[in-house]
Amino acid sequence: MKTRNLILSALTLSLAALLPTGAFAQAAEFVGPETCKACHPQAHEAWQRSTHARSTRSLTDKQLQQPSCTACHAPQQSRGDRSVSCESCHGAGSLYAKSHVMKDKELSRLVGLQMPTEKTCAQCHDAHAPSLTRFNFVERKARIDHGDKAASTNAGTRADAR
Ligand code: HEC
Ligand code: HEC
Ligand code: HEC
Ligand code: HEC
Repeated sequence: MKTRNLILSALTLSLAALLPTGAFAQAAEFVGPETCKACHPQAHEAWQRSTHARSTRSLTDKQLQQPSCTACHAPQQSRGDRSVSCESCHGAGSLYAKSHVMKDKELSRLVGLQMPTEKTCAQCHDAHAPSLTRFNFVERKARIDHGDKAASTNAGTRADAR
């Protein structure tokens, strides 16, 4: 019995070592922008002013049923969210949205946190998007800024809620 347990745990360990790091991220689930707001009120406020928070206002009811529109305008609609929300860019948050995980830059990324790059934007801001000008990452990123300010002003409110 004891030997069997030993063999089993050795097997589990070697299996865990074989898993690609992305496996944890894939197991993560969508938690919604309200959850992020609890610890990132400033970032949430800035996001609400952006068109990403209102990305379905340009769709008709019929278009809201069309995956060919919602893929970019409401990617998490099946989970009850109609926006380009935090997790559309930062990755599903169920495993990283906890203070002790978030403070650990390696662990948070291992369980799904993404720091968006130009590639993240290109998933939606591609040739299909109706834009007269080519997507300029630096300029566009500045327009959705919720970064440094969020980090400093949120310092006091990021209580160890969990
Ligand atoms: C329980 C509180 C809490 C929740 C909920 C939370 N965060 Fe955080 N977040 C933190 C803390 C604390 C930090 C670390 C701040 C630091 O070390 O400067 C952080 C850091 C971050 C960072 C910067 C990470 C880095 O390594 O530079 C991002 C991006 C982020 N959070 C996004 C999110 C998103 C998106 C959500 C919702 C899915 C979320 N957070 C939910 C507390 C939280
Ligand atoms: C590949 C991703 C993608 C798909 C699919 C997509 N859109 Fe968009 N859409 C965008 C992006 C990105 C913008 C913003 C473009 C910009 O301002 O640079 C946008 C902007 C718009 C706008 C203009 C909003 C405004 O206020 O100017 C309308 C209207 C729109 N989309 C309708 C639709 C409809 C209807 C569908 C489905 C037939 C659709 N989109 C499918 C990415 C997409
Ligand atoms: C359209 C994509 C997008 C959305 C939506 C988005 N973010 Fe971000 N976020 C970014 C980018 C880009 C950065 C900067 C990454 C970098 O500097 O490497 C960032 C940075 C951050 C940081 C780090 C700030 C710092 O200075 O260290 C936090 C915290 C954060 N986002 C939280 C959120 C929260 C909470 C939401 C939703 C309310 C959200 N983000 C929505 C793209 C997005
Ligand atoms: C999941 C899809 C998606 C992703 C990922 C995404 N966007 Fe968007 N973005 C949109 C859609 C859709 C709109 C248009 C919303 C509307 O008006 O209907 C938009 C609009 C914008 C606008 C406003 C355009 C205007 O003139 O009003 C900016 C700026 C922007 N995005 C920047 C970014 C940046 C920077 C990134 C990457 C860090 C990014 N977006 C990632 C879907 C996305």
